[in-house]
Amino acid sequence: MDNSVVSPTARRLSDYKPYGFEIRSVDLTFELEPANTRVTSKLKVKKQNLRLNKLYLDGSGLELVSFKINGQVYESYKKTASGLEVVFPFESADVEIVTQFNPEQNKSLEGLYYAASTFCTQCEAEGFRKISYYPDRPDVLSVWSVKIVADKHKYPYLLSNGNKTGEGTLPDGKHWVSWHDPFKKPCYLFALVAGDFDLLSDEYTTQSGRKVNLELYVDKGNAGRGSHALESLKKSMKWDEDTFGLEYDLDIYMIVAVDFFNMGAMENKGLNVFNSKFVLADEESATDEDYFNVESIIAHEYFHNWTGNRVTCRDWFQLSLKEGLTVFRDQQFSSDMSSHISNRIKQVRVMREHQFAEDAGPMSHPIRPEEVIEMNNFYTVTVYDKGAEVIRMIHTLLGAEGFRKGMDLYFKRHDGQAVTCDDFVAAMQDASGVDLEQFRRWYRQSGTPVVTVSKKYNKDTKKLVIKLEQRTPATADQKQKQDLHIPVAWELFDKTENKHSSGVFDLKQQADQLIIDDVQQQQDIVLFTDFSAPVKIEQTTSTESAIEVMLHAHDSFSRWDAAQTVYSDLIWQINDSPDNSCAEVESAINAIVQKLTGANISDRGLLCELLSLPGFDYLSEQRETLDVLALYQAREKVKHFLASALTDFAARVINEVSSSEYRYATEDVAIRRLKNLMLQYHVLATEEFGHAEQQFTNATNMTDSLGALSAMRTEATLPQFERHMVAFEERWRQDVLVLDKWFALHAGTDRDDILATMDLLTSHQRFNFDNPNRVRSVVGTFAFYNIPQFHKADGSGYQYVADNIIRLNSVNPQVAARIVTPMLRWKKLMGERRDKMQNQLLRIADTPDLSKDLFEKVSKSLAE
Ligand code: TRP
Ligand code: ZN
Repeated sequence: MDNSVVSPTARRLSDYKPYGFEIRSVDLTFELEPANTRVTSKLKVKKQNLRLNKLYLDGSGLELVSFKINGQVYESYKKTASGLEVVFPFESADVEIVTQFNPEQNKSLEGLYYAASTFCTQCEAEGFRKISYYPDRPDVLSVWSVKIVADKHKYPYLLSNGNKTGEGTLPDGKHWVSWHDPFKKPCYLFALVAGDFDLLSDEYTTQSGRKVNLELYVDKGNAGRGSHALESLKKSMKWDEDTFGLEYDLDIYMIVAVDFFNMGAMENKGLNVFNSKFVLADEESATDEDYFNVESIIAHEYFHNWTGNRVTCRDWFQLSLKEGLTVFRDQQFSSDMSSHISNRIKQVRVMREHQFAEDAGPMSHPIRPEEVIEMNNFYTVTVYDKGAEVIRMIHTLLGAEGFRKGMDLYFKRHDGQAVTCDDFVAAMQDASGVDLEQFRRWYRQSGTPVVTVSKKYNKDTKKLVIKLEQRTPATADQKQKQDLHIPVAWELFDKTENKHSSGVFDLKQQADQLIIDDVQQQQDIVLFTDFSAPVKIEQTTSTESAIEVMLHAHDSFSRWDAAQTVYSDLIWQINDSPDNSCAEVESAINAIVQKLTGANISDRGLLCELLSLPGFDYLSEQRETLDVLALYQAREKVKHFLASALTDFAARVINEVSSSEYRYATEDVAIRRLKNLMLQYHVLATEEFGHAEQQFTNATNMTDSLGALSAMRTEATLPQFERHMVAFEERWRQDVLVLDKWFALHAGTDRDDILATMDLLTSHQRFNFDNPNRVRSVVGTFAFYNIPQFHKADGSGYQYVADNIIRLNSVNPQVAARIVTPMLRWKKLMGERRDKMQNQLLRIADTPDLSKDLFEKVSKSLAE
């Protein structure tokens, strides 16, 4: 083994320096060939910092064909592993660089790649350096013109950013198209797509009366599945006008759906590229969840046009400037389009199940990280989802009106600029007059704060005194923590009458008291309503008082949260004393179910949530170390109790709800969800599969088909599950997006011969190791969601995942580094599992040519 390999080094926020040169314009010509693409780049460069005499251009994996300055071959440059250092004595000059590379061999799906007969780019965060030598950093903004030359027959559509400025045919069956984008942009927003598609067109008239052409490009034959995406786009455009006064700015908005894509979607100016999974939807092939995701991701990318593109990031440490804010905006949009509470619960689940885990593990970082080895590793739940929670807290502190003023000022000050998170907070503070000085700590402090609550009620004075204390435990990246400014939203509710009041308390010190006067004895209080801050709350609650909250609080989030707390407590009770506590737990579950099903809760979405257990990952986060299997079994046990207690209610729901015509509408979604949840419990409790089988056979939509299949995936009904899975595969064999659901159902099944199943899946005709969606469905589902088999005591689950990560390392490092996540927490495990997982991580660490992506995560995990 070669021990002399130098470790990749980290870049730091504190090292930021302006580039020193202006790129006044970029003019690119692409001659596209799958095996050899040539790029000619003409840059108009102007020196800003006159003391600099070297021009740095990033580049990676490029063959340099020629380099000219002012029309002359130029040789005063040095080529390094990461780019060019050009001696640059000029004040301004025209630079021309010709490079070539092989898009077909690019399996990383970063830069320009060729897959499924389509040329496609992905430049965020630092992929443009694989296309041409250029300052690959977000604070260098320029005006771009692009000309694309390719075979006319194979690639009838040649797309790039902005407006089309020309097209023509050439000899040898080729054609060309040229594009110009009038808005200055950094290179991470550049995009090019060339291929053959079905095109859906529509139009939208903005609030000021400008007509915008909308174009959606999908794989041939998939046009019938594009209308939901187009409708979602129009809703997003209208919502941003109504909510923030923000209008679209080009004459054309294009979205392309591609089958090979590392993430969900990308907001390239005027030319969004999407993973086809988040565009295509019809009732037969997509679930309600798919419909939801399409709508929210279309919105997310659209909203980036202002929060990300018009105002972009100064450097990648500021990623949350655009991502946290844009996630917050898409969350508000989704809330307005459907049910606030279902959305809020979904968001809180992501925080508690994934973000809290990230913050407690080796990759812990603030929403504005300070040190990065591989930027692709920082597109995280922390930057995105905790980032959105931080924006939400600003919204809570300023109110909707103050927040809108802050947004207006932010655009007034920074339109066309590359800025920092501090600039955003300053605009919010200046526009509203609200002091956000201490609040800024949320940007630089990692970790999940814990707030301890104790209540005292004085009958004589009618005062309710709530003592609040905060602390943030040390994290892997940061030992010292400061007190945060935490908005504590509260609601005083009444168990008998309908009286209630509410407010927001600013917890800024380590300890403080919230005192409420004139409180009646029958009143009670809930804190952190609507999850007003991303914190853990420590307080003691009895099952009885939790039931009161579930039934009488106005705030739906608090009602759900009370249920989560009780279920968690009961699961831990079994975990800690499996034999003694079962009867007690069973009767507590019976009592809860009786109350909830008797209470006539009209919001079926909320009822579903009240009858669902907390996720395994949320439970894991509640303890420092873990016997995974014991916890998993405790949760399964409580699920069985819940299923039994719900027998009558479930039967009623299943029989009551007749399937009507499919509509994707809030109320219909909730009905299907409740029915499918009850079907799960029904099969679990009765071990009868007749209802599920019937639903599977009669289903007219994917939500009901999948609901039936997953209900049959129990130990007692495994043969039925398998039989119907065979039928499902026969029906959908040609449709990979649907087949991914089948892959995932198999990979997540708790069966002792699972590794044999995994081998069958990966040798399936439609499986392709180069496609991230396939890999995530099979290997990802197993590693993240098949708890008992991934953690099998003999270590075979860990070994299987490690084998795949090692193989992926050289194919697609970004995907490899995502799938490694469940392996990073070996320290949390008890007994032999801990050593077995650590050993597999050490194997990964020893992989020759280990990518920066995996190196960063694995070395942090092993060092912890
Ligand atoms: N900016 C994209 C978004 O949030 C994220 C993204 C898409 C991305 N593809 C990527 C990030 C590839 C890193 C690498 O919408
Ligand atoms: Zn985004």
